[in-house]
Order: sequence, then structure tokens, then C-alpha cells
Amino acid sequence: MENQKTVKVGLIGLGTVGTGVYKLIQKNQVEMVQKIGAQMEIAKILVHNIEKKREGVDASLLTNRWEDILEDKDISIVIEVMGGIEPAKSMILDALNAGKNVVSANKDLIAEHGKELLDAAQKNKVDFLYEAAVAGGIPIIRPLKQCLAGNEISEVIGIVNGTTNYILTKMFEEGMDFGAALAKATELGYAEADPTADVEGLDAGRKVAIMASIAFHSRVVFSDVYTEGITKITAKDIAYAKEFDSVIKLLGVAHNTEGGIEVAVYPMLLHKDHPLASVRDSFNAVFVHGDAVDDAMFYGRGAGELPTASAVMGDIIDVARDIDYGCNGRISCTCYRNTPIKDFAEIRNKFFLRIQVVNEPGVLARIASVFGDHKVSIARVIQKNAQDKMAELVIVTEKVKEYHMQDALNDLKGMDIVSEISSVIREY
Ligand code: NAP
Ligand code: HSE
Repeated sequence: MENQKTVKVGLIGLGTVGTGVYKLIQKNQVEMVQKIGAQMEIAKILVHNIEKKREGVDASLLTNRWEDILEDKDISIVIEVMGGIEPAKSMILDALNAGKNVVSANKDLIAEHGKELLDAAQKNKVDFLYEAAVAGGIPIIRPLKQCLAGNEISEVIGIVNGTTNYILTKMFEEGMDFGAALAKATELGYAEADPTADVEGLDAGRKVAIMASIAFHSRVVFSDVYTEGITKITAKDIAYAKEFDSVIKLLGVAHNTEGGIEVAVYPMLLHKDHPLASVRDSFNAVFVHGDAVDDAMFYGRGAGELPTASAVMGDIIDVARDIDYGCNGRISCTCYRNTPIKDFAEIRNKFFLRIQVVNEPGVLARIASVFGDHKVSIARVIQKNAQDKMAELVIVTEKVKEYHMQDALNDLKGMDIVSEISSVIREY
């Protein structure tokens, strides 16, 4: 069509997410003019291996030279779906400084260098949007930044890693062991190439840092987040969780308290009545509490080609609409506070402990006394599996400061009546 405006985009990366974005741009062609007032054209695609066969992709668009995108004055939107810190960071900064808008799905980068990228976007009056960086297809960045902007948000809790939720669901519902469930998650394409970031809670930690920054208007970076993964969860822990009408979930937990921002990722026992307890399989969900909205929950697919591309595409369309109205850079960094991060040792949690002890009179009293010495209040105790002069004690505590619990555990470890502390899991 003559005189029809065209928005040209440059794609960095054509892997899982990039391929999904490519497909969605093609699929949206017909209605693009109605959506953004212009046609959209992929002008160039930067890849690592230009020789790789890519089904359904116009090979003439591929390049392995970043300059082909950076120096193309007609490209107004750069879509970074390559991942990693470098060269992604330098490329995004180059693009922003060249006056291009950027859409990214790169949680690793944003959780560490988000401020620098947002500052560059603001300085250059361009958009830097990253809806796909947290919980894949689930809208959560825009809801926190815009829809809930009138709230004082005090809590954000999320199941934000699909791999670990899949593993825990399989262990819980089918009695699958950890290794077999991880292998299946990898086969299904949920896990990262190196699944350490998934199972050790690092991937969730990055997503929680990004959400907490936006929700609490104060910068939280990945290194502020205490992380613990799910590798130590056993079938016995799961059996006890069932007995307590609970599930075990890897939760990203962020609270804005008077003493500062509390932010952590760990497996937690969660009562089955909590809305997050019913989030199964590889699904993600984020639960938010605001002073006006009360409780709100966002649920959906946290990973995968098209769900993630859905979030990227939403950002691209938003940028294109801003281009149409000449208002790019409208919403940038919203971290206008400087709230301290609370020392993790001061955070209060309930604990579920599984301890192997000698089965003889006075043992329980000695253990209770250690807890008492460290201000740990016990909520309930169960003793099971008494055999061969040994017994398994399960103790659930009231909320205690992390450092009190660690001190108590250190003392317990040194006692002759304690043969093993088998599990230490927090309870929501
Ligand atoms: P991926 O499948 O590994 O794809 C990465 C792409 O980037 C590939 O096309 C690769 O080129 C290209 N690439 C890598 N290094 C490059 C370099 N130095 N120069 C040029 N191109 C390079 O990754 P992905 O799963 O799509 O993830 C992309 C981003 O989205 C990451 O930041 C990830 O954290 C984020 N994300 C992913 C998901 C998901 O479900 N996968 C969900 C949410 C967010 P070749 O094709 O030539 O190898
Ligand atoms: N490996 C991640 C997950 C992919 O399992 O959720 C999305 O970030």
C-alpha cells in the first residue's frame, strides 16, 4: 500500500523466544495497521550461527553483524531475545543511545543492570520494555507498574519458575523422584540448558528482584535476594506436607516492611487453601497484595516459545503505538524511593524441621531447651518411626528470626542425641 507507514524492527536472537516472536509478527501482519497504525517489518535478525537451518525463516534477513541492525537508521525497535549479560548489555545500550526503542526478555541482565538500561532509555527518550522477563506470558510488569500504580504494595509472592514447579508437582502427585522429574522437565523444554539456575532458585531470584523493584518503587538487584533451591526436598518432606494439608512450592517472596524490603526465594510449605497452592505443573502465578486492590493473582504459562513471545509482542505493539503518537519514553524507571534491603538474618519465618534423634527419655526436653535458649517458639511436634533406638522428630515452629533459627540449628548439630538434621523448610 502506498504511503503506508512501516515500523521496522531488528531481532537479536532467533532461538526459542525469537522464533516465537518471528511467528507472531508474521501472524499479526493482517491486523497490524489496525493495531499500530502502520505495517511492521522485520528488517534484520542477528544470530550466532548464520549457517544453521531455520525452518520457515527468510534467510536473507539473517546476519551475524550487530552493526547491520545498529547502523540501520530505519530500525526503530530492537528486540533482544538472545540472553546473557554480554554482549546483550552493550548491544541494548548501543541501541538506546542510538535513539532506538528496545524490548527485552532478559531477566539475568535486567535483574543486575536494570537501572543503567532504564536510565539510558530515559536519557534518550525511548522505550525500554521487558514484560517477558518475569513469568513469561503472564502480564505482571505492566500490571505492577501501571494498573496497580495507585496502590501501596506490601507483598509480592510468586511461583515464577516453571521447571521447579513441574518437578515439585510430579514429586507430589506421582511420587516421581527429583532426578526423573528434572529429566522430564528438560525433555519438555522448560529447564535452562544448565538447570542449576532453575533448581537452585537463581532464575526465580532474578524475577523476584525485578518484581520487587517495581512493586516497592526501590531498586532491588539479584544479589539482594537470598536464594535456596529444591534439591534437598525429599519424598518424606512431601509426605509430611500432605499430612499437614499443605504442598511444597518454590516461592519468590518479597515484602515491603517498616524495617526494609525482605526478598528471598526458597521452598515453602504452603497450606492448600492458599491460591498459589493450586498452581500445578509448569504453570506460574504471582500473588500481589495492595492497600487498595487487596489481593490479586496473575496466572499462566511462565515459559515457552509462544507464551513468552506473547509478552514480547505486547511490548513491541506498545512501543509501535508510542511511535505513532510520538510519546516514546513515557514510562521509564519508577524506582523513586531508596528503601533499604532488610538483613536476611532479621527476617522472621515459620520452620518445619525433620530431625533424627536418640529415642530415650529426656531427649525432647533437651531439644526444646535449645530452642528456648534461642527464642524459638515451638508450634507442634510429631514423633515417628521409632526404631533401632532412633526416632524422627518433626517440629514446626512459630515465626522466628532467621538468625535465631540458625543459632539453634548449630547448637542441635553439636548434640550427642541428634544424629541428623534431615530437613529445614520454611512454612508460609
Ligand atoms: P535460546 O533458545 O538459547 O536462543 C538464543 C538466541 O540468541 C539464538 O538464536 C542464538 O543464535 C542467539 N545468540 C546467542 N548468543 C549470540 C551472540 N553472541 N550473537 C548473536 N546471537 C546470539 O534462548 P531463549 O530460550 O530463546 O531465551 C532468550 C531470552 O529470553 C533469554 O534472556 C531468556 O532468559 C529469556 N526468556 C526465555 C524464556 C523461555 O521460555 N525460553 C522465557 C522467558 C524469558 P543461534 O540461533 O545462532 O545459536
Ligand atoms: N527455565 C525457566 C523456567 C524458563 O523454568 O521457568 C523461563 O524463564
